[in-house]
Amino acid sequence: MNILKLNLLFVKNQLNDFINKDLELKARIKYIRITKKIIFLTLNDGTTIKNLQAVLKIKDFQNFKNLNLKLFALIKIKGRLKLTLAKKEQPFEIQVSDLTIFQNIDVDYPLQNKIHSNEFLRSIAHLRARTNKYFAIFKIRNELHYQIHHFFYQKKFLNLNGPILTTNDAEGAGQVFTLNDPNYTFFKKKVNLTVSSQLALEAFAQIYQKTYTFAPTFRAEHSNTVRHCAEFWMLEVEITNYNLKKIISLIIKLLKTLINSVLVNCAAELKLLSKANNQDLELKLKNFLENEFIIISYSKAINIINNHMQQTKIQWGNDLELIHEKFLTNQYFQKPVVVHSYPKKIKSFYMKTNSDLKDKETVAGFDILFPNVGEVVGGSEREDNYQKIIENCQLKKIETKDLQWYLNLRKYGYFPSVGFGLGFDRLLMYISGMTNIKDVIFFPRSFNNIKY
Ligand code: 4AD
Ligand code: MG
Repeated sequence: MNILKLNLLFVKNQLNDFINKDLELKARIKYIRITKKIIFLTLNDGTTIKNLQAVLKIKDFQNFKNLNLKLFALIKIKGRLKLTLAKKEQPFEIQVSDLTIFQNIDVDYPLQNKIHSNEFLRSIAHLRARTNKYFAIFKIRNELHYQIHHFFYQKKFLNLNGPILTTNDAEGAGQVFTLNDPNYTFFKKKVNLTVSSQLALEAFAQIYQKTYTFAPTFRAEHSNTVRHCAEFWMLEVEITNYNLKKIISLIIKLLKTLINSVLVNCAAELKLLSKANNQDLELKLKNFLENEFIIISYSKAINIINNHMQQTKIQWGNDLELIHEKFLTNQYFQKPVVVHSYPKKIKSFYMKTNSDLKDKETVAGFDILFPNVGEVVGGSEREDNYQKIIENCQLKKIETKDLQWYLNLRKYGYFPSVGFGLGFDRLLMYISGMTNIKDVIFFPRSFNNIKY
């Protein structure tokens, strides 16, 4: 007999080729139901979120109970795929003729057939993608990864990688992890994990014009919030001969492309997450595609906040707090908001100073704030004047010794450059409706928390 070794994704996509054929499948048991005459096993092999129903006639499997099969056990089955009208969504099942146990489950297995809390699942992060909810999240994560590269490849951007080990603090904010090399025996100097690939990208963009990188990023922020991780992924883009307006519309195009791809390619995952997170994600994402973005200046944002928030007014010059960001995105506009022209003193040393402002010093920088999540993107035009960027470093007391190569780019023919960083995990929070960044990263690391 010619037995086809299969995975569920093939079966789902090419159903007609497999109906009434003999198949072999290795899978995990997700659910067991035993009736008088029939044993139903719900199986999944990890290739798709859709399960397969396996049907065993009790008369053919008299010893089934003695097998003592547990939920999540690994089995191999042989059988024939049959059409069935019982389930509209998945109109096929496998009628099993043979079952072998690959491995049963030990008694200390922590997952049960019930809804576990996110907090509990975080404590067993290595197992949580076995639940439907986390399975769906990481499938969407994969879709977004692929689509990001696809988007930029099509637009002829160059994907280049900056170093992970670096002597620089790209944001100048002192949130670096330092290599544990007390006497500097290896590099003979202090070395950090990168907080942003921007500095390297600026060097690349001076050569190739349109560049991006998508890489792990590390920040030693002593804040254990639902939006911060010590290790996260950032998409960074750097383009020369471009401007702020154009890069904001490129980001909007990117975001809409990504969200559309999730709607099209991860419909089952979204449906499951909508139910799990009690919100209509499909509707939210469709609205995202149809709506215009709000683009306002920092000063305008301050006016709106101060006119509407009596208890938590904000003084011009101070950074927006989460409560203000939430007011703008969740309440006032009810959609993502681009805020630009921030006060110079609260933004990074590399941002270009706006020249056309009357009294208050602002920079050509912007953040994109999302409902519930807060800041997802931060970007700016880069200060291209050597003297001015040196002054910025002095003002912010930034040590320039190891930064000199970067500052010198301004002396060797520097095209005006503009770029942004997008917090990938925060975008995934928005799309999946998850409220804690630790729940969209397979092995999250944050302040006081590194288990794996
Ligand atoms: O706004 P940030 O700090 O910008 C930069 O690093 C620029 N150098 C990027 C550039 O222009 N090339 O970080 C960019 C984004 C933030 O908007 C946020 O979404 C995310 O990175 N982010 C974090 N995500 C998770 N955990 C953290 N600790 C994060 N810190 C920043
Ligand atoms: Mg920022």
